[in-house]
Formats: sequence, C-alpha cells, structure tokens
Amino acid sequence: MLLPTLVFQDSVRVRCCPRHWRFKYEDYKETAEWLLSHTKYRPEIAVICGSGLGGLADKLTQFQAFDYNEIPNFPQSTVPGHAGKLVFGYLNDKCCVMMQGRFHSYEGYSLWKVAFPVRVFRLLDVHTLIVTNAAGGLNPKYEVGDVMLIRDHINLAGLSGQNPLRGPNDDRFGERFPPMSDAYDRILRQKAHSIWKQMEQERPLQEGTYVMVGGPNFETIAECRFLHKLGADAVGMSTVPEVIVARHCGIRVFGFSLITNKSVLDYESQEIANHEEVLEAGRLAAEKLEGLVCKLVATM
Ligand code: HPA
Repeated sequence: MLLPTLVFQDSVRVRCCPRHWRFKYEDYKETAEWLLSHTKYRPEIAVICGSGLGGLADKLTQFQAFDYNEIPNFPQSTVPGHAGKLVFGYLNDKCCVMMQGRFHSYEGYSLWKVAFPVRVFRLLDVHTLIVTNAAGGLNPKYEVGDVMLIRDHINLAGLSGQNPLRGPNDDRFGERFPPMSDAYDRILRQKAHSIWKQMEQERPLQEGTYVMVGGPNFETIAECRFLHKLGADAVGMSTVPEVIVARHCGIRVFGFSLITNKSVLDYESQEIANHEEVLEAGRLAAEKLEGLVCKLVATM
C-alpha cells in the first residue's frame, strides 16, 4: 500500500512511516561521492563555523568552495551571518573542509538534518571535527569577547527525546547507545590552553559547559537563571546535534564558544540580547579565533 507523502518546511519528502523519516545511508554516500568527484581535496579535519565566525574559511589557502545549493541532499542556510558555502582547502598544510554556515532546529530542520554534513564528513574520512559557535555567557565571570572551550554540554531538548540519533540505528555509522562522557577531546583542549598562553591574550581562555536551547528567541531572565543553576556556563542554539552525530560515528571533537553577550540574570539589568551584537562580537574576535584554530590544526 502506498503511504501518503508529506512535505515538511525543510523540503524533505518523507513517507508516513517511521522507518523512512531520515536520510538513508545511500543518500549520505551520494553526497560524499559527489564531493569526491568534484574536488581533488581529501580533508582530514572539518570545521563548522558558527554565527559571525565564517571568516575562518577565508584563511584556507588554494581553496575550492561549493554553494550548499549545488551539493546533492545538502540543506540550505537561511540565517544572516551564515554564508551557505562548503569550502575545501589547506590550513597550515592540513587539508580541511569548512562549513560557512550551519543548520539550526529553529530554521525548521529536524535534528538529523542539522547534523547531515557530519556523516558526509565521516564518509570523506575526516577524523576530527572542530565546532564553533556564538553563545551567551551565563557564567558571571565571562566577558563579551571571551572564548570558552567546550568541556561538556547539556542537551536540554535531548533529555526529553529530541535527539539527532532518534529512530532506527544505522550500525554502519555507529552503535545504538554511544557514550557522551568523553565527547570533547581532552588532549586537544590541553593543546588549546598551551597555544592560548603562547598567544599572550589579555583574557584567560575559559573552559566550561555549553547548553543548547531551541531558539530562535533569546532566553528569558528566569530561563537564564535556570540554565545557570543546571551547571551551564554558556547558552546557544546549535552544536550539540553535530557533536552527538560526530561522536556516534567515531569522529574526534574539539569545540569552542565565542561569548557574544552576557546572559541577563538580573531583573535590574537593562541589557537586551540581539543578533547584530552577536555578529559584531564575531567580527571583533575573528583574529584571535583564527589564530587559535590555525595553530591547533597544525598540531594534528
Ligand atoms: N542565547 C542563545 N543563543 C545565543 C546567545 C544567547 O544569549 N548569544 C549567541 N547565541
């Protein structure tokens, strides 16, 4: 019997049967093979550039860029500050692929679709994923412009069932119940701290816990207080789905947040978060972040 076809906001045609709710292995393979046949680059490292941090990709030498809309099965970026380009090239002699623009749940994408590129990277033989994002600082010690290494995350939506791995498990990518207690590589974090010392920055390199919320609205004061009490140091609307999918398929992960605004925890405060200040903080911090990533990649 033919099941009815639904068209979702993210333009994925799916059949009303749980077994067909996500891309098949062959779809990831089709995208990977398309890329391999359209570029001579064979990247080992992938970087996902967060809001306002796409300038990292401009550091790539001898680069080749694809618009997301040229690549079979690739979702499209809809957010200002996310260019929507997949860029291949060399960073400090290491072959890299960088996403200038990521996908978010608040754009209407399912979480497995948000993380689609990560499985494609796995099929390209990428061994390390660097995730970057813009985040609000919940930890009162954090200042705008601080960089926070992600030591751990809280998958707030995931705790109630919103997980990119929900649905039938594909053993070709990874096991049904992957651990997440070691999601963010300890050695790469240690290396980042020593690079930061050599860079002689005024502010310390922070290290803490990132919590993902769905967005697109910025949090209320009560929500910020709640997230801080939960143990989170920074809050954002991304990253966690890609990290879960990367760890599931055995990719090593390093991540950092750029603190673009201080989360409001106090009813007396007049501060109001907005996307423009997020992008502006990205522009101001570009140089130090590019320095950190370039030097870290050189050690891999
Ligand atoms: N909250 C959620 N996401 C964000 C923030 C924030 O305060 N700043 C940048 N991204």
